Amino acid sequence: MEKIEFLNLGKHPITNSYLNSKYPKNEFLYNLRLIYHSKTKLISLAKFVSPKKMFNNKYAHRASASKTMRLAYEKLAKSLIRKYKPKSILEIGSNDGCFIKHFQKIRNIGVEPCKNLADITTKMKIKTYPSFWTKKLSKKIINENGLFDIIYSANTISHIHNLKETFEAIEMSLNRNGIFILEDPSLLETLKKNSYDQFYDEHAYVFSLTALKNLTNKSGLEIFKVEKLNTHGGSNRVFFKKRINNDLKVSNKYLKYLSMEKRFGIEKLNTYKKFAKNVQNSKKALIKIFKKIKNKGNIIIGYGATYKSSTVLNYCGLKNNFIDYFLDTTPTKFGKFTPGSRIPICKYKGIPRNVKYAYLGAWNFKDEIFKKEKKYIRNGGKFITHVPYPKII
Ligand code: TYD
Repeated sequence: MEKIEFLNLGKHPITNSYLNSKYPKNEFLYNLRLIYHSKTKLISLAKFVSPKKMFNNKYAHRASASKTMRLAYEKLAKSLIRKYKPKSILEIGSNDGCFIKHFQKIRNIGVEPCKNLADITTKMKIKTYPSFWTKKLSKKIINENGLFDIIYSANTISHIHNLKETFEAIEMSLNRNGIFILEDPSLLETLKKNSYDQFYDEHAYVFSLTALKNLTNKSGLEIFKVEKLNTHGGSNRVFFKKRINNDLKVSNKYLKYLSMEKRFGIEKLNTYKKFAKNVQNSKKALIKIFKKIKNKGNIIIGYGATYKSSTVLNYCGLKNNFIDYFLDTTPTKFGKFTPGSRIPICKYKGIPRNVKYAYLGAWNFKDEIFKKEKKYIRNGGKFITHVPYPKII
């Protein structure tokens, strides 16, 4: 058997479809189940949701919404310019231009299927293709612009269903000495942190280095370097080169990370069976915490109506009876309701004084949030999190 299901997280909505009304008609739901691929060790959703349902002109996520991400992209852009001196760069999933805008002095091109986002970068005078990344599109881009020194893609390749075509299109679009940099949440960190909310409709895959290596084994691309990042709850920044390019050497650190994954048991089905148990226990423990606080008549708010939190809310059945409302800094989410769980989302203007408990939807920005909310914490305000296990902080 090549594909083995190890966890069923139940019915889920499209995470990006923030609702206009608390009582929507016919909200689309799908079954969120996780699969282990025994050949490649890839971990994926059992059934993918149609990309057109997820990535449209109402796409809510803005890479620039967080200071952490703005600074991370700026720092990376500077270091790539210094190190590789690229003359051209392409970004797959350019979102609101948070990264690609730092390359205005060279040929910089964005690919972004969400029209509302592509419009933002077009207005910034960055040539943007408002399309999905396919071989057909890459041929068009090459014809119109030539090949690229760097292709960068953060939190996007894990969203694209056809990985074979994706990697082939990337390989075709790179110069002989070109590099491809992929940044996506790390499966190892997901397992260690029990952050099962990395799985939702958009995240068709959560990659291990092992799976990425296996997936590209027969392609013209090969991993030569990996950096571990704190962003999005622990990510890998994976550098690929063309196999024919021997100028870039395969780093020892990457090989070390590969063996760390092996030691953890990333290749073994049993690891995922254990993870499934931990997730089920996490659900029970989180509900217990919410019930205890609510039974004492406390208000609980959600802090950051993230896509990730959608998985937790819908899996654990946390609705408006447990979370009074969410606070978020993203304007497109204000006045809406969380998908499936239907909790109101309000504009963040600080945590109100009558609130003593806040569920950390954006747990991946814990440090940034704790810094910002010093006063709330000093006055006895608490955060609830499920990472790495349900607790009150
Ligand atoms: P993000 O990290 O992109 O997570 P996901 O991909 O799971 O949606 O989203 C972070 C969300 O949290 C975004 O809507 C902005 C919000 N947020 C706040 O409201 N306040 C904050 O201080 C931070 C850091 C984020």
